[in-house]
Amino acid sequence: AIDKTLKPHEKLSRNKKPVLVCILDGWGENVAKDKYNAIHSAETPVTDSLKENSKRWRTVRAHGTAVGLPSDADMGNSEVGHNALGSGQVIDQGARLVDIALDDGSAFKLDGWKYISEAFPNNTLHFIGLLSDGGVHSRYNQLIGFVKGAAKDGAKRIRVHILTDGRDVPDGTSVKFVEQLEKDLESLDGVDAKIASGGGRMHVTMDRYEADWRIVERGWHAHVLGEADHKFKSALEGVKKLREGDGSKPVTDQWLPPFVVVGDDDKPVGTIEDGDAVALFNFRSDRMVEISKAFEYEDFNAFDRKRFPKTKFVGMMQYDGDLKLPARFLVPPPAISGVSGELLAQEGVTTFACSETQKFGHVTFFWNGNRSGYFKEDLETYVEIPSDTVPFNEAPEMKAREITEAGKEALLSGKYDMVRVNYANPDMVGHTGDLEACVSACTLVDSCVKELLDTCDKMGGRWLLTADHGNADDMVQRQKKSNEPMMGEDGKFLPLTSHTLAPVPVAIGGAGLPEDIVFREDLPKAGLANITGTYLNLLGFATPAHMEPSLI
Ligand code: 3PG
Ligand code: CO
Repeated sequence: AIDKTLKPHEKLSRNKKPVLVCILDGWGENVAKDKYNAIHSAETPVTDSLKENSKRWRTVRAHGTAVGLPSDADMGNSEVGHNALGSGQVIDQGARLVDIALDDGSAFKLDGWKYISEAFPNNTLHFIGLLSDGGVHSRYNQLIGFVKGAAKDGAKRIRVHILTDGRDVPDGTSVKFVEQLEKDLESLDGVDAKIASGGGRMHVTMDRYEADWRIVERGWHAHVLGEADHKFKSALEGVKKLREGDGSKPVTDQWLPPFVVVGDDDKPVGTIEDGDAVALFNFRSDRMVEISKAFEYEDFNAFDRKRFPKTKFVGMMQYDGDLKLPARFLVPPPAISGVSGELLAQEGVTTFACSETQKFGHVTFFWNGNRSGYFKEDLETYVEIPSDTVPFNEAPEMKAREITEAGKEALLSGKYDMVRVNYANPDMVGHTGDLEACVSACTLVDSCVKELLDTCDKMGGRWLLTADHGNADDMVQRQKKSNEPMMGEDGKFLPLTSHTLAPVPVAIGGAGLPEDIVFREDLPKAGLANITGTYLNLLGFATPAHMEPSLI
C-alpha cells in the first residue's frame, strides 16, 4: 500500500509563496533545428535564456516506455504525459493493457466481453472508434483483434463505425486504413461484417471536454440513426470522395463530414437498434466520455438523440473513474493512485489549475489520474477558459493571453500554494500542420511564459516550466534514414500533424528558489514522472517513495 503522507523536504521549506507549474503542451526539444521546427523558427527569447542555465535546465523523456507506452517507437501524448506529471509514476497505459489482454486472451474472459457476447447470436455488434495505427487513442490491430474474437465467439453481424484520423498519423492515410479494414472484414468466414458509417475525428463523435457537443451529435446521427448528408455504397468510395471537398479546397482526414454507407436499396447498412451491442474501441478517455454518456445515460440533454436504442454498451476501458463511465468495459483501465493532487490536498495545500477547454481536462482530469472531480473542493480551484471552436491555425493565439491573465491573477492573489497552467497552442496548432501559424503560436506562448515567470518572481515564488510531449518542434514528415524533409507532388512540404518522439525541456527557478538548488546529474534517463517529485520539492515536500526520484 502507498504511504500517502507527505514529509517535509530537507532543504526547501514550505512557505506561503506560490509555486508555478507551467506546461507547454506539445513543446519538444528536437534535434532537428531547421525551419520546420516551429519552436526553433519562432521568437523565443524567454525559453532560450532558460537553456543557458545548464544547472536548472534539462530535458526528460516524454514518449514510449518512459510514460508507460508499449514501446519506444510510441510517441508521447497528453493523456499519458499528464498522468505521469500528476502521479510521479510510470504506469502501464491503456495501449499496453489492451495489448496484453489480447495477447493472453484474458480480454475475452472478462465481464465486458461476456456482456456484449449475449448479443452475438441474434443482434448486431457495433464497433466505434478512431481508425488508424496512431496508438494515441486506438490502434488498428486491437480493433481487428476484437473483431476476430467476436467472429470466433459467434458474432453473426458486425458493423464498424470509423473516425478517420490524419492527426496522430499523416493526412491521407485514412484511405489505406479503410481499404485494409474492408479487406479484413470481408475475409471473416460466415460473418456479415461491414463499415457502416464514419467521419473525420475533429468533426464527428470525438469531441472532448464538452468543447462542442454538435460534434458528438453528428456522430450519433450517422452511427445510430443512419442519417448524414453524404451516403455512399462503400466507405472507401466515401472517404476518397469526401477528401476532394467541393472542388475549391480539399478536406483533410481529420475534418471529413459524417457519412453513412448504404446498400443497393439506399438504406443504411448498419443503424444501431435495440438489443445490439456497441463497443467503443478507443482506449484513451478524453474523446470517448461524451459519446459514452450519449449511449449510457437515460437522462441526457446535451442534444436530441431522437431515438435512444437499448444497447449492450461497453468502452474499451472505463474512461472516467469518478463517474464510473461507462459502467462496463472490455479491459480494466490503468489503476493510478497516490497522485500528487490527492497528497497535496491532504496536506491542506491550495491549488489553482487553469487551461482553455481543449486542455482543461489535461491539467485536471488526466493530471489527477483520470478523475473528473476534486479531491478537496475547498482547496482546489479549477478554471476553464472556453476555447474557440475553429480549426486552430485560423486563431493560433487561442486563449494564451486569457490563461496568462488568469495565472497571474492567481499568483498575485496570495490564495494559492500551487498554480498550474497549460498552454494549448504548440500542440493544437501543431496538429493542424500549418507551420506558419504554429510559429506564431510559439512566439506568443514564449512571451506569455515571461509574464508568468516575472509575476511568480515578484511574489517571491518558485517555478517549474515543462511540456507533456513534442509536437510543434517538427512540422514536416521526414525520410526515415536521412531525416530530410519530404515534399509532396505539388512541391509543398508534407506536413507532420502528429506528436514527435522528442524529449521535453524542464526548467526550474524563481526568486524564492535558493541558489544551491540545482538539477542532479545522475538521472540521465529521467522521464516526465520524475517531474512530480521535483515540484513537490519546490512546494516544500520530500518526494514520496512511490514516485520516481526528483530531478533536484
Ligand atoms: C488529440 O486528441 O488531439 C490528439 O490525438 C492527441 O493530442 P493530445 O495528446 O496532445 O491531446
Ligand atoms: Co496533441
